[in-house]
Amino acid sequence: MAILDSSLLDPTTLLVGGVLSLSMLWWLSTRRPSGLPPGPGPALPVIGHLHLLSSDPRATFRAWRRQYGDVFSLYMGGRLVVVLNGLPVIKEALVKMADVFSHRPHMFTSDRISESKGLVFSSGSVWKENRKTALEILRELGMGKNVLAENIKEEITHYIRAIEEHKGAPLDLSELTTVSISNNICGIIFGKRFEYDDPLFLEYLNTVNQNLKFLNGTAAVNFLPFLDKLPGDLFNVKKVLNNVKFVEDSLLLSQVEGHQKVHSEHAEPDFIHSYLRQLNKQRDSGKDTSLSERDLVKTTGDLFLAGTETTSTTIAWALLFFLHHPEVQDKCYKELCDVIGTGRLPSMQDKPEMTYLEATTMEVLRKGEIAPFAVQHSTPHDVTFQGYVIPQDAVILPNLDSVLLDKETWGDPDNFRPERFIGLDGKIVKPEGFIPFSIGRRVCLGESLARMELFLYLSTLIQRFRFLPPEQETLPPLEGVMGITYCPKSYKIRAIPRE
Ligand code: HEM
Repeated sequence: MAILDSSLLDPTTLLVGGVLSLSMLWWLSTRRPSGLPPGPGPALPVIGHLHLLSSDPRATFRAWRRQYGDVFSLYMGGRLVVVLNGLPVIKEALVKMADVFSHRPHMFTSDRISESKGLVFSSGSVWKENRKTALEILRELGMGKNVLAENIKEEITHYIRAIEEHKGAPLDLSELTTVSISNNICGIIFGKRFEYDDPLFLEYLNTVNQNLKFLNGTAAVNFLPFLDKLPGDLFNVKKVLNNVKFVEDSLLLSQVEGHQKVHSEHAEPDFIHSYLRQLNKQRDSGKDTSLSERDLVKTTGDLFLAGTETTSTTIAWALLFFLHHPEVQDKCYKELCDVIGTGRLPSMQDKPEMTYLEATTMEVLRKGEIAPFAVQHSTPHDVTFQGYVIPQDAVILPNLDSVLLDKETWGDPDNFRPERFIGLDGKIVKPEGFIPFSIGRRVCLGESLARMELFLYLSTLIQRFRFLPPEQETLPPLEGVMGITYCPKSYKIRAIPRE
């Protein structure tokens, strides 16, 4: 008796059987294990749900929120990503359950860049001690206080002079703004500013900029790590790591070593000297410490990047909104003339009187939403949340877009309307859903510096210039590009000096 019926060996049966077995294997390997938050149907082998996402996934996430609720999940490559939506859910995770939701996930590129040290990509005790130390030092150096405001005002005078040199001709202001804003953070961490045409400084900023442009490639490798094994450097990971090493060795490390050579109790205060002082104090006391020279290098790098890109992107959005809403620009100018006039530079003491500019800045931060998914979070162990199981090291995205552009909170979220932040009594109203800096223990560490910069830069820009489109009839599109921040597509503007 034949063990196998010969009809089972015919090619059609084999093909059908093969396809069925493969489908079964695929289904078993990609079905969402029970307990996970719901989400889009079966993940494809290797890529998961990546094929359903564009480079700007906000619209897709809005649709999935409607379909699956405030907590949904998807696979990016083989990696589980949990998206948190709406203020109550984000608050429950990042504030009420901050102990578990304040970690960062291990990712291919960020692990290599940060070595899990410093501020932005570290977790646990390393992050806690570095964040606490950084905050103490920044406060000591005057973050949110007058000393720092005076330095920023000094920097702004260079910036205004550089813009004036263009005599109202159309220009892309982004490079000048980035260089100037970066000088503020350089003043804080290194105790020095750079000239706008300093070739080495421009090379650092261009290198950082190049890395931001390579972000899509490195993001692909984050979710599909096997891509890094392909020959060559198709996804620019090696270039990115080389760029990081260049900035680290020639700027950050050389600054730290330079500071170490002249370090004393009485050295001019800046971030590096203060950190070294704190590090020595911990070591002298014999206490266990997570602070280290390597963490100092990584922390200065984090502050350099976070302190440059974010505020300059917000200024770029503000000027673009001015072009699209000249009536808002005019109202800001009128308020400025009423409160300050044109005879002196704006200072922080003027801020409480400048309600309309404050409301406009808040509206730029809301509508521009430069960090729509904050920075990725994760949990150090499995956790039950909102009735679902979130496994250890899943990538957690606090979807700030679901709050900043939420219809229920704002009524008309898509309109640019600064008045929404002004109450009937003429004072600033800050709805709980205004969270462009995120919330919880990982909330932006530079918020008060950013707010100070935004006030001083925007008020001085409005005082000195009228901003017009490059040509009278054509407005640059109000469109952004998703990178490390959501920033406007590059555009030109005319900065016409006010008489
Ligand atoms: C308008 C400007 C800015 C916006 C909208 C912004 C927004 C954010 C957001 C959304 C996060 C992620 C929070 C989270 O993980 O949940 C963040 C983190 C961070 N920001 Fe900012 N930021 C701005 C300016 C700055 C500046 C000027 C600095 C420089 C001191 C800075 C330093 C940081 C750091 C160090 C972190 C990481 C904090 C941590 O992981 O503990 N930011 N920021």
